[in-house]
Parts: sequence; C-alpha cells; structure tokens
Amino acid sequence: MSTKELVIGMFGFGVVGEGLYKILQQTPSLNARIKKACIKHPGKKRNAPEELFTTDRYELLNDEEINVIVEVIDDSVAAYEIVTTALKNGKAVVSASKKMIAENLASLLALQKETGLPFLCEAAACASIPVIRNLEEYYDNDLLHSIRAIVNGSTNFILTKMFDDKLDFQDALLLAQQLGYAESDPTLDVEGFDAVNKWVILLNHAYGIVTTIDNILFSGIQNIQLSDAKIAQEKGWNIKLVAHAKTLLNGKISAYVLPQFVKNDGLLSFVKNEFNGVVIESGFADRQFFYGKGAGSLATGSAVMSDISALRYGYKYEYKKLYHHKPKELTEDFYVRVYISFDEVNKIRREEFEWIEEWHAGLERSYLIGVIHFSKLREDDWWKAPGVSLILTVDGIIEEIDSRNAKKRSLELAGIV
Ligand code: HSE
Repeated sequence: MSTKELVIGMFGFGVVGEGLYKILQQTPSLNARIKKACIKHPGKKRNAPEELFTTDRYELLNDEEINVIVEVIDDSVAAYEIVTTALKNGKAVVSASKKMIAENLASLLALQKETGLPFLCEAAACASIPVIRNLEEYYDNDLLHSIRAIVNGSTNFILTKMFDDKLDFQDALLLAQQLGYAESDPTLDVEGFDAVNKWVILLNHAYGIVTTIDNILFSGIQNIQLSDAKIAQEKGWNIKLVAHAKTLLNGKISAYVLPQFVKNDGLLSFVKNEFNGVVIESGFADRQFFYGKGAGSLATGSAVMSDISALRYGYKYEYKKLYHHKPKELTEDFYVRVYISFDEVNKIRREEFEWIEEWHAGLERSYLIGVIHFSKLREDDWWKAPGVSLILTVDGIIEEIDSRNAKKRSLELAGIV
C-alpha cells in the first residue's frame, strides 16, 4: 500500500472548515495540504492567509493537482453540483453535507459505482463518532439487530439545558447557535430534519436501504412541553430525540426519528448536551454503545480529517449490505405505544388508536398513553399540530397485538372518554 500526497481543494470555511484547517495544521504527518479554499463571501475575516481563498469553484474543480475535494458547505444544491463535478473530474470526495447526501443518495451511489472513486462522509452523521465506518466494516454482515441513537447535537443540547439547567427554549437554542452546534437554519435541527437526514445515511450503511426522508416518520422537539418533562421525571424517564431502526420478526426494518422517553439509567440518558450516542444490538456481540461529540467545529473536523487520512490508502465504502447481501426493506406494519399531551381534546384522533391505556385530563394540558398502528401516524400528521406533543414510550414498538384484546379495550375506551 502506498501513501500519496493529498492535495485538497476545500469548499466552505465555516464552523467545520475552520476546524479542519486547524486540525490539519496540527497533523503534519498526514501528508495532506489544502491548496485552495472556495468561499462565498470574500469580505469576511478568516483565520487563514488571504491567498488560500477564492470564490471561483472551477479553480479547484479543474485543478489537476488537486486530488481531493473536501466539501463542508451548507447549501445542499451547490454542494451536490460540487461533489458530482468533482467525482466526474476524477477527484476523491469527502463531504459533511448530510442534507445534500440524504436528498441525493441514489444518484450519489450510482456515481460512485460509475466512477469507482471514494466518496466519504463520516462527518455527516454523529460528527466525532466513527459510526459509518463501524457499520461498513465491523458490521459488514447481516448480524445487526437494531440501532438506537441520538444523532443531533443541538436538540440534545437544548433538551439538556431546558430540563436539567432550566433554561428556556429560546435561550438554549441561542447558546447552541453561539457554540456552533446548530445548522444555519436551526429549524432543520429543531424540527428533526437534520436527524432524519443523518438517519437516511445511516440506514444505508447499516442495512443497505436506499430511501429518502419522505419514507421515514420523523419529528423534532418543537412541540415538547415542560409538563411532558415533569411527567417523565415522575416516572423516572428522560426525553430524547431518538433515531431508531430495528429488524422485526418478519425481517423488515422499522425506522423513525421521534421524541422518546428513555429510562434515567439507560444508555441514551447518559448522553447530554451536544454529545451523540449510538446503541447497537447485534447477534453474538450483544450490545455496544458509542458515545462522543455530535456537533462542533473540532469534533466534526476530526471526522473529516479521518476520512482524508483514509484516502491515503484508497479507502472507499463498499456498501456491502447493498451490493453483496440482500438489502433490507422498511416496513410500517407494526404498532407503537405513544404518550400524547394536548391543549385541546378535539386535536386528538381517538378513533385511530387500537386502545388507550391512560387518560389524564388536566386544566391546561391533558395526556393519554395509547397504542396506534404506525402507518396511521404516517397517513396524517395531526399529532404534529401546535399544542400536541407526541412522545414514544420507553417500550415504543409492539410488533403484533391481540385484536380481540384491542376490540375489548376500545370498548372500554368508549366508556373512559
Ligand atoms: N446541527 C448539527 C447537530 C451539527 O446539531 O447535530 C452536526 O451535524
């Protein structure tokens, strides 16, 4: 194996780009240098020599000496044009653009196949945690049973600050923005888009699934109330934004990104602030827990650096689960036990539930706990309406229910409510 000099053309010099620049300055052994960085706003003050920068993307894309394009910008349309041109021009690509990758997964896979060039994106999911490489290399087989993860640092930071440190939502969000954790458009974090984009990427590396966010049920933390946190506390739980995927008994995969109660002494409860955590269950290895910073300049830059480093040896993803095994399929045919709190009862579709187990009417907010078919939540998003907060219970998934039991319970329900 030979190691070659990596001459980098970098797109973007924001939170991640600057982090990578600092990291590369401190790792001379890497044999990698940034030849040019392409930026959008030339007037901004940056902590690097002015001659490093250009605004002309083709100065990088058409430079034959540049053999690696690092793309860390937040405009997904421009990012897609850049990485596809780079691959077509024979350059390896390292990208941190989760939104761009999730939006164009199928065509990026096709282009990698066509060009045979590496396209690495460890920084696009869970920042400093090497989760993609782990799913690609260690789990290069079909022993993976489930993954439960916290994949968005900002929302985890906000939930921690709100519920542990009693900050209000806006202050917590502002702090996440100041610390460089949030997306330029923070609704991407708060409403779950960033997490589901990452989940699209991880489902691909975990199970060979090629999908889009339109096929995955997701929500963010936008509707969670302080009263939900109080109820969680009474029951010995925490609330986290959980990304879930599990192989069901029929061999298909359940997947979602939703707020979920997790036990106070559970692994995901341990994950605070901007940290991410990934719990993997598999045949024989049983359970593993990966934990690390999920957002921030150096944490994300370190994942980009690791991808650059892997390029020295010509590393590329093989997508074994997609190309060498039978890729798994997503399913919506299962039930979930949910907690829903609400300000007005007419926002709740009681008739959609198989049964309701608890109903607590309060003066300002009420809540229920009930079992509903997952596909009902996909059909219509009444449960995302302002004032309605849906949180999966700790034992979220139920694969099968006894329908006689369901009928009996729904009759009882008619009496309860
Ligand atoms: N906004 C993202 C997050 C940055 O909070 O997780 C890291 O991908």
